[in-house]
Amino acid sequence: MKKKVVVFTGAGISAESGLSTFRDSRGLWDMYNIEDVATPNAFSKNPKIVLDFYNIRRRQLLKCKPNIAHYSINKLINKFDLSIITQNIDDLHERSGAIDVLHLHGKLIESKSIIDNKVYQISGEELNLGDCCPKGGQLRPNVVWFGEQVPNMEIAINMVKKAHIFIIIGTSLNVYPAASLVNYAINTKRIILINPNPVTNENDINFELILKKATEGVPELVSELLND
Ligand code: OAD
Repeated sequence: MKKKVVVFTGAGISAESGLSTFRDSRGLWDMYNIEDVATPNAFSKNPKIVLDFYNIRRRQLLKCKPNIAHYSINKLINKFDLSIITQNIDDLHERSGAIDVLHLHGKLIESKSIIDNKVYQISGEELNLGDCCPKGGQLRPNVVWFGEQVPNMEIAINMVKKAHIFIIIGTSLNVYPAASLVNYAINTKRIILINPNPVTNENDINFELILKKATEGVPELVSELLND
């Protein structure tokens, strides 16, 4: 039976594709207040500001391509039972050919109705006020905002519990509950963290740290695991 590898990614894996991270200097949360653009309250108070914030993100995403880190991860399927969990709302894993990517924080290219939470693909770059579902409900981005539940968390936890190798790439491990996934790596022989900067996590986890950018560290690790 193939050994289970779970890969858990954050904004850092898409940084070299041209998408900003959140907490690096000049990251998105340096330029915007979370309370203005990424909470249910912000959407109730000023939906246009929120929709515009995500329209800018979507416009940038459509100009970007997956990088070698995204592509390299997919090669693991040749030897391992691979699961990918991402905090990213971009679709760069999917566009690199990954199948069954579990998104914890939703997807930028999807909307959902405020009436019944039904999810729709967004065809162009923009979602605007007045864009409604067939029942007449305003559409919002299908992303998880601060203060909202993370619906895929249970599925992610069960994946991580089964992981033989757990690889964490390009995340500051700052946002919960996503960051708590590391605590469920109970059957894991190796927990490997790829990040060019040291990560401080309040959980006392014994990471194997690869202090490299994703485009360098990921292909190296994948080739080590495939040749091991
Ligand atoms: P952060 O911006 O918090 O962290 C990005 C991490 O990527 C940092 O630790 C960087 O050191 C690292 N990094 C930067 N460049 C890199 C590179 N080229 N290769 C590898 N790593 C690199 O982003 P996340 O941890 O993903 O949630 O943030 C988690 C969540 O916070 C996001 O999903 C989003 C945000 O608020 C919501 O909006 C709900």
